[in-house]
Amino acid sequence: MDGDLREGEVVTALPSRHDAGVYFIGMIRTPWTSRRDCPKRGSFDGPVCSLIIDERWHAALEGIKDHKRLQVLYWMDQARRDLVLQAPAHAGKIVGTFALRSPVRPNPIASSVVEMMAVKDGTILVRGLDCLDGTPLIDIKPERIVTES
Ligand SMILES: C[S@@+](CC[C@H](N)C(=O)[O-])C[C@H]1O[C@@H](n2cnc3c(N)ncnc32)[C@H](O)[C@@H]1O
Repeated sequence: MDGDLREGEVVTALPSRHDAGVYFIGMIRTPWTSRRDCPKRGSFDGPVCSLIIDERWHAALEGIKDHKRLQVLYWMDQARRDLVLQAPAHAGKIVGTFALRSPVRPNPIASSVVEMMAVKDGTILVRGLDCLDGTPLIDIKPERIVTES
């Protein structure tokens, strides 16, 4: 989890209960095990990472190979969730959580558009991610809808 507060950062009390639940559909394997090494934003020139889909969802991958780019949604499981004002190192000022793409947010959902390299046996190889190894995967969508011509 994130540690101490930086100067100017403000927390709020989290609600006493959750309003909804999510199902993790799998896990992301990346080369990064510490946030220090992890890129702030993924790049199509970055390393190949794997989306490992749980077997129960394998049928949901039908047709995915027709899409070169995917939007991947993942759960930043090591981020705190109670900050409303943040002091990002790069910004030099205090910024509200909803004006940032920081993993620190009430629902730590991250998204990236990735380039698909291959799909096989419930694993999708992609480039363009920026998360720690083992980050839970919550959804995959085509970047664009393919319309029949
Ligand atoms: C700035 S976020 C951007 C995420 C996504 N591309 C987005 O825009 O929603 C990426 C950073 O989140 C942090 N991070 C990566 N994986 C994480 C995890 N599992 N839990 C908490 N923080 C994580 C790393 O510091 C990484 O550099």
